[in-house]
Amino acid sequence: MQPAQPAYFDADFEFSELEVDGCDFLSTLNVQVSSSTTNSLSSSASPPPGPAWTKFHSDHSSAKFFRPKRYLPQSFSAAIDHLCGLSASPVILEVGSGAGAALFPLLKSLPASTSAVAIDIAPTAIDLLRSQPKFDASLIAAHVCDICVDDLPTPPNTIDVAFLVFCLSAVPPSTFLSTLIKIRNVLKPDGMICFRDYGLYDMTMLRFKPFQHVVDFTFRRGDGTLSSFFELEATKALFVEAGFDLVEAKYALVKNVNKKTGQCMRRCFTSVVAKVKPPQNC
Ligand SMILES: C[S@@+](CC[C@H](N)C(=O)[O-])C[C@H]1O[C@@H](n2cnc3c(N)ncnc32)[C@H](O)[C@@H]1O
Repeated sequence: MQPAQPAYFDADFEFSELEVDGCDFLSTLNVQVSSSTTNSLSSSASPPPGPAWTKFHSDHSSAKFFRPKRYLPQSFSAAIDHLCGLSASPVILEVGSGAGAALFPLLKSLPASTSAVAIDIAPTAIDLLRSQPKFDASLIAAHVCDICVDDLPTPPNTIDVAFLVFCLSAVPPSTFLSTLIKIRNVLKPDGMICFRDYGLYDMTMLRFKPFQHVVDFTFRRGDGTLSSFFELEATKALFVEAGFDLVEAKYALVKNVNKKTGQCMRRCFTSVVAKVKPPQNC
């Protein structure tokens, strides 16, 4: 018998319900919504994010800070179906795996022969991932790797599906495009990418103070890590520019009610599933 699917919500309210507060917030920062994602964040002006993430994972060494993202197989169903339909054993990549809160629920919904390459900038994250009871070293290769700087530890044309879950928001915006291109280069010609990250006007965006604003929709948290928020049209354009054809791209809009306080939190996530664009016939 198939295990029961967890409830999955992604359309609890309309995006327009976020726009009044969101536009007010941006006008205090003097930032316009535009379809540009290419504004740079000067690397010389900003501390490198690696040490902040290394400290983050050693401060949360129980690996329970990020709850298992059991909704991911449903939100990426097109890619999961692709992986389940392959005749050979699937190979997946997760960029910015942390301790595995996305990777393990994804692997659970895939054939048992699926192997994974997991990378993270923080050695402490990779140690935590390797220490998880579900970590199977015969199937998961975990590497310390900075997606902005290092080559991926997997050759071109080896990955069926790459997952980028709440990681692009952590890298400088000037590296968004090169990150996607680097991932595309290791995908097989029929490979896919699945992206989920903070959406424009997510509740957590509107909580940042003006002094935390870095550039466009990017903020720096108190611990030194970056947090970018993804406007849908600009994100679609970014994936197309990086050489992908869009399969699905949307805001996932989720209402969370705090059971203790009754406070309603409106979360906005940007979700993209895309496949490698075939080479153009000349
Ligand atoms: C918000 S956590 C998400 C972890 C996991 N994907 C999940 O959904 O639970 C972001 C992760 O990206 C990693 N990260 C940040 N910058 C990175 C970079 N330049 N290269 C690789 N990993 C990075 C961080 O160490 C962290 O583990």
